[in-house]
Amino acid sequence: MRVAARASGRRRPGWHARPQEMLEGPPLLLVAVSLGLVLLLLVLPVLRRCGIVFLGWNELFLHPICNLLMGDSKEQRILRYVQQHAVAGDPQSVVRAIDTYCLTKEWAMNVGDKKGQIVDAVVQELRPSVLLELGAYVGYSAVRMARLLLPGARLLTIELNPDYAAITQQMLDFAGLQDRVTLVVGASQDIIPQLKKKYDVDTLDMVFLDHWKDRYLPDTLLLEECGLLRKGTVLLADNVICPGTPEFLAYVRGNSRFECTHFSSYLEYSQVMDGLEKVVYKGPGSPSRP
Ligand SMILES: C[S@@+](CC[C@H](N)C(=O)[O-])C[C@H]1O[C@@H](n2cnc3c(N)ncnc32)[C@H](O)[C@@H]1O
Repeated sequence: MRVAARASGRRRPGWHARPQEMLEGPPLLLVAVSLGLVLLLLVLPVLRRCGIVFLGWNELFLHPICNLLMGDSKEQRILRYVQQHAVAGDPQSVVRAIDTYCLTKEWAMNVGDKKGQIVDAVVQELRPSVLLELGAYVGYSAVRMARLLLPGARLLTIELNPDYAAITQQMLDFAGLQDRVTLVVGASQDIIPQLKKKYDVDTLDMVFLDHWKDRYLPDTLLLEECGLLRKGTVLLADNVICPGTPEFLAYVRGNSRFECTHFSSYLEYSQVMDGLEKVVYKGPGSPSRP
């Protein structure tokens, strides 16, 4: 009889469950994980609007966990997605594929499509012959800007992290832009003083600042000190609102050597407010403001 009862899966009557029976109930861990996921889904819209929390959540929590589980890096996953979904030799399709991946799968710190359109407009307005980028990451903005350069123009992009630089080079090769773009691996503060002699730069027509935010001001001053800015050189600075570059903004906005225009927008792939600052260098002799 006992054997028959067990085989039919019927429970013993009584108040106290035995350990064996506790295991047969809903597993506690599964309930906790499900509750956690529901909670997460509820707070995600809030996270998308709150800048620092949004960045911290993605960069310090979500992506390290994904990397651990998948055994590769987010940057490798972005490159693989591009190679599978974009057309080799077609930069526009590369930009589109990166945007799609970062909008639908994993957030990444590319300038993104909304601010990217402002970058496009500035590049198209200036048609720079020599363009410098500080911070390449996986090469999104490098591809985006280089695709708009006129024949003979060139982009130099400096990237500190060798792993990111390797991805950028493969991204540029895939987009067919390797001849227009020179990727330099190293820290901006070390490379900028070498630009004239080692990279044959006279002065720069445009600089896209998009590396770590505390480097914007010292690197602007270094570019000036090294004689790389001319009257009319345009500095285009990303993320001046989120994460923000208060020292840089205060300096350029308060100094008559620079003329500033703000372009309000959103942090890449989010609803967090951000913006680009377009800073025109007026030359060293501009009178100081009172
Ligand atoms: C926001 S990401 C660049 C995104 C890229 N411009 C885009 O829109 O596709 C910032 C990058 O700057 C790099 N970086 C940070 N400090 C740097 C420095 N001092 N010199 C060169 N690269 C730097 C980081 O390694 C990172 O890849």
